[in-house]
Amino acid sequence: MDIDPKKLKVLLTEEQILAKAKELGKQITEYYKNIKEEIVAVCALKGSVHFFSDLVKNIDHDMTYHFVRVSSYHGGTESSGKITVNSWVKENLENKHILLIEDIVDTGNTIRFLIDEFKKQKPASIKLTSLLIKNAHDHGIHVDFPGFEIDNYFVIGYGLDYDEKYRNLPFIGYVE
Ligand code: IMP
Repeated sequence: MDIDPKKLKVLLTEEQILAKAKELGKQITEYYKNIKEEIVAVCALKGSVHFFSDLVKNIDHDMTYHFVRVSSYHGGTESSGKITVNSWVKENLENKHILLIEDIVDTGNTIRFLIDEFKKQKPASIKLTSLLIKNAHDHGIHVDFPGFEIDNYFVIGYGLDYDEKYRNLPFIGYVE
């Protein structure tokens, strides 16, 4: 597949994404209000980088930042199903409250893998937010703070890539 950026359709504008980050930030703040400990906010790189940065500014709670990078795509639009850990959290997560911040749930394999790995570190809780959720798969993943449910488009921009490109588009687009 080749992408011609001029033929891209806008699925979500920056304004819509920022409004969603504000709305989710409020919900998350409300959810954690009776928890005294800090939130361990985990950004799933690289795709979540912009959403992570928008969202955390809207959460009114003590927080620490962490970054993990796993790869499930080996270029193009096809998922290989195999997940490789490229970088992981160094801190001890026992009894911590993890908020996992994702860009997109597609088949759900990546999220399932991340949650299983984090559970091994015995955190007090793991909650999940994702900017996009594709409705094409019966992935069975419960997203605690869901962003937008989208049809089965291959989307790029706002952190999401095609062969590592287009992450810097200030909107989420798709090719028809
Ligand atoms: P899953 O494991 O199939 O749920 O896919 C999750 C990962 O695949 C995401 O974190 C993205 O990196 C990538 N991905 C899935 N769908 C898309 C898409 O439409 N555009 C760009 N990347 C995608």
